[in-house]
Amino acid sequence: MAIREIITIGHPTLARKASPVENIDGHIIELARDMVETMHQAPGIGLAAPQVNESLRLITVDLSVGKNRDDLFIMINPEILESEGEQVSEEGCLSVPGIYEKVVRPRKILVRGYNLDGREIRLEAEDLLARVFCHEIDHLEGKLFIDRLSPLKRRLLRSRLKKQLEKD
Ligand code: NI
Repeated sequence: MAIREIITIGHPTLARKASPVENIDGHIIELARDMVETMHQAPGIGLAAPQVNESLRLITVDLSVGKNRDDLFIMINPEILESEGEQVSEEGCLSVPGIYEKVVRPRKILVRGYNLDGREIRLEAEDLLARVFCHEIDHLEGKLFIDRLSPLKRRLLRSRLKKQLEKD
């Protein structure tokens, strides 16, 4: 297992639609394990493969950040089948360092995907768990959480980020 580098806003992979995983081969298994380790070490509660520069539909989620094995989800080709309600809460992203903004998400979702054994998983997620799944699945569409803010807010953040990057 290895810690992968997390790419940040401005990198083209983050803006690209990721490809479905066709075969759960050694590459995918290694990538998934590395993502779990990278997410825990960051620390973060979710990670999508494009964030480690792999344009594939694979996400990891763990609200316990490694404390509770049952909280870890590795999901291949995840898809939101149903969503209901609304929640507004502050969100951040390992690929958008230093920015936290309120984002509207569904309160409850039904998500379907596959685990590393190729078995279908269906999961009902609510509140923070639903939020994290929505956020990570957005990454697979090339979308960051700031893309869900108002155009004005987004412009302000982009120029702030640009200045920040120019300074580094
Ligand atoms: Ni993110």
